[in-house]
Amino acid sequence: MKKLAAVMAAAVLSMTALTACGGEKESEALADGVLNVGTNAEFPPFEYVNDNGEPDGFDVALIKAIGEKLGVTVQVDNMEFASLVSSIGTKIDVSIAGMTVTEERQNAVDFSDSYYEAVQYVIVAEGSAIASAEDLKGKAIGVQLGTTGDFIAEEIEGATVSQYNKAVDAVNDLINGRLDCVIIDKNPALVFQSKFEGQVKAIDGADFEFEAENYAIALPKGDTVLANQINTALKELIADGTFDALVEEYIEGGNEG
Ligand code: ARG
Repeated sequence: MKKLAAVMAAAVLSMTALTACGGEKESEALADGVLNVGTNAEFPPFEYVNDNGEPDGFDVALIKAIGEKLGVTVQVDNMEFASLVSSIGTKIDVSIAGMTVTEERQNAVDFSDSYYEAVQYVIVAEGSAIASAEDLKGKAIGVQLGTTGDFIAEEIEGATVSQYNKAVDAVNDLINGRLDCVIIDKNPALVFQSKFEGQVKAIDGADFEFEAENYAIALPKGDTVLANQINTALKELIADGTFDALVEEYIEGGNEG
């Protein structure tokens, strides 16, 4: 009798699991009930370390909301940006880090549906004459190591590129006069502009002919079950207004980490 009850309980549980993820089976990455997420909390407002020393920001809130939909605990690891992609499938299950979908990254990982459109911006010292693509030639440019800003800077004729692990260190070197500019994504550029008000200004990448980029969650290559689960959760969060509320709270509401 006890045995039958246990079997029935297991059946009910697995039915709940089935309904929870839209009739599909669950990814093995979630089998332990934990989604291990890698980020690099040096990228406000998407990710930063909050006053309690915890990773926080739009991406962290979004992946936690996704975890809730999937019925798993989300464990966030703060790591170097440049090691995120290669850690997927070993140290971490997925990565959310304002990460742009690029062809090169797609050789190593899959991406969820895109959740945000961005573009690179150029941060210059207040009063700088830099205003167009031509002006970037031969300049001392700071970037965060392994980012799309880094890849763009390396293509600029005659530029000396300094790679930093933390974007804020690049901005500090800009203020110190060691750099002519910093190339970084729009929203962090705007956060740094207001953090260092009067010292630096952020210029729209459109003035430099930079192309639009799309952020997505990086996933283990070939785990289509996990991709479907995450994309379904993302769609639900968009449909029920949670996504917009997070945009308002973290990105448009001026919460700067
Ligand atoms: N969007 C850029 C890229 O994918 C920069 C992302 C940096 N993110 C971070 N959490 N530090 O390369």
